[in-house]
Amino acid sequence: MNQQEKKEYMKKYKMLKEQGVPFFPDIVFNDAVVWLAVFLLLSALAVFVGVHMEGKANPNDTTYVPRPEWYFLFLYQYLKYWPGFLEPIAATVIPGIAILLLLFLPFYDTNPMRHPLNRPVATTIMTIVVIAMVALTYISEVTKPPTTAKAAVGQTEAEMIKTGQKLFTENCASCHGPDGKGVKGITHLPLNSDDFLNTRTDDVIHNIIASGQTSVGMQAFGAGNGGNLSDQQIDAIVAYIRSWQKGVAVATPTPQAAAKFDPAKYYKNNCAVCHGPNAEGKGTAFPALNKAASEHDMYHDVILNGKNAMPKYKGKLTDQQIDQIINWLATK
Ligand code: HEC
Ligand code: HEC
Repeated sequence: MNQQEKKEYMKKYKMLKEQGVPFFPDIVFNDAVVWLAVFLLLSALAVFVGVHMEGKANPNDTTYVPRPEWYFLFLYQYLKYWPGFLEPIAATVIPGIAILLLLFLPFYDTNPMRHPLNRPVATTIMTIVVIAMVALTYISEVTKPPTTAKAAVGQTEAEMIKTGQKLFTENCASCHGPDGKGVKGITHLPLNSDDFLNTRTDDVIHNIIASGQTSVGMQAFGAGNGGNLSDQQIDAIVAYIRSWQKGVAVATPTPQAAAKFDPAKYYKNNCAVCHGPNAEGKGTAFPALNKAASEHDMYHDVILNGKNAMPKYKGKLTDQQIDQIINWLATK
């Protein structure tokens, strides 16, 4: 702006200032009134609507993917575009700089214009940032993996029983024994007895698991009662318990199944195309897998869930098999 414009501007500013009200206490008071209303609204929402909580954390559930609330999803998604070793910079330095830039805005942006159209640079930058935030949130939401609670427990009865057995082993076997016979000193009613199975309908068993019988030491497992099992998962457990009565043969997982897996052979047939026959990597796109010893958890996660061009092996490899591959890589 030139000298002439500046004079005009200062004149107008002075005029407006004379008509206006002081910041303190007038404007501060207005602000306080609005914030009081917002505060009351939030308090009312917290008391009368509340927040939906997820089930209790289950240390046995290795498939759980913790995700932030929706308003942080854009940051979460943005972090995914950074390689691991740069994450501290992406997570703290860059947002820190952005906030400092906003904080010091009045000192370096002295443009007196107030209308967004008169401030093309600031308006463009902020528009891009807002669009990026919305887009990142959207991408994160549509690429969200299904949660365990929603994960299919299986369609056929055999699949249900198999899932149920797994869930029973993880959640119940410590007190009821792997086959429902009971554990001496903890439970005294065998779940696999005819007495039990002939006198309880599926619904009754479902309700006992979902709501618990806390007075006799049986906790509630239903997600609605502070537990970590969905209705479908409880149905799967009921199907498994029922299978004892019908005499349905259930294959118990054998430790040999894991032992038979040959990580070297699996690697050669599935991974070598991209990572090289000796895990030495190929070019800049396919990393060498030479950090297996120190980066076990990261490797496990990348193999299980994939990353960019790296396919995910969830469903193809079990957690144990992935560990075997990583242990094998560590010896190379
Ligand atoms: C911390 C120990 C514990 C765990 C874990 C546990 N229960 Fe129980 N459960 C009990 C106790 C104690 C009882 C009371 C009956 C008894 O003593 O046998 C009981 C009772 C039951 C009953 C009712 C038995 C009857 O005859 O009325 C069912 C059904 C049952 N549990 C299923 C399950 C299932 C399914 C799971 C896993 C999701 C599970 N329980 C996990 C301790 C446990
Ligand atoms: C289609 C090609 C391809 C195949 C097949 C493949 N990977 Fe990868 N893998 C990649 C790419 C590309 C990356 C880099 C991903 C990134 O960081 O963006 C990667 C990354 C990895 C990483 C992380 C390495 C690091 O330092 O970040 C591990 C571990 C890994 N792969 C293991 C495996 C194993 C084990 C197999 C076989 C079961 C396999 N990969 C099969 C392409 C492949």
